[in-house]
Amino acid sequence: LIAAFQPKVLAGRRVLVTAGPTFEAIDPVRGITNLSSGKMGYAVARAAREAGAEVLLISGPTALATPFGVRRIDVQSAQQMHDAVLDHLDGQHVFIAVAAVADWRVVNASDQKLKKQADGAVPELQFAQNPDILATVAARTNLAGFPYCVGFAAESENLVQFGSSKREKKGIPLLVGNIGHNTFGQDDNTIILFDEDGHTVLPRASKLELARQLISEISKRIAKISL
Ligand code: CTP
Ligand code: CA
Repeated sequence: LIAAFQPKVLAGRRVLVTAGPTFEAIDPVRGITNLSSGKMGYAVARAAREAGAEVLLISGPTALATPFGVRRIDVQSAQQMHDAVLDHLDGQHVFIAVAAVADWRVVNASDQKLKKQADGAVPELQFAQNPDILATVAARTNLAGFPYCVGFAAESENLVQFGSSKREKKGIPLLVGNIGHNTFGQDDNTIILFDEDGHTVLPRASKLELARQLISEISKRIAKISL
């Protein structure tokens, strides 16, 4: 199905999406990142826009084009992503956290490029935990249930068990689990939706097709809470 034929199930809704990896600086030319390509998050942003929503995409570094009609803000670090999300949270109906946010940042990052030492001594990096963007937003959900919070989790094992416990720990109504290790950078994916009623598998399909199915599932769930 082409974009114009998608049902406008999110017309009049505002949707905030995070996508891509974060980049945690070590020095001005180096940093720590991860294998997220941003493809799933960008597909989710595109699908939300196709469904009639006003979409803001807050993205870590990716090589992807901004989906048509989507507003995009670029960030690098987890802290910058956190700040950008909180700055734009007012009035959002749905928050979909697809970004692979770094759990830790380097607290002793150098202002100058680190140089090799004559004696072979290596840099001693120290880490601090980053703020949990999704948990922060979930804690701000209003009494009507907005913003409706959706998380993503890429587990390496025990997905069904870890998925449902992660959903509860984060305090969110819907969590999407990626099956297998090989979602990163791929065009296809297989996902499991975890909600309070249990879990549902969405079989292997393109990330855009899965994103459209996810948007349809989200629209059904917010239709219930906004009565
Ligand atoms: N997330 C976030 N901010 C963070 C870490 C994660 O918003 N600092 C969001 C991700 O965007 C994703 C969800 O939380 O939607 C789950 O991320 P995941 O890394 O699976 O969960 P963690 O709570 O970080 O647990 P783990 O120790 O398994 O990495
Ligand atoms: Ca994590």
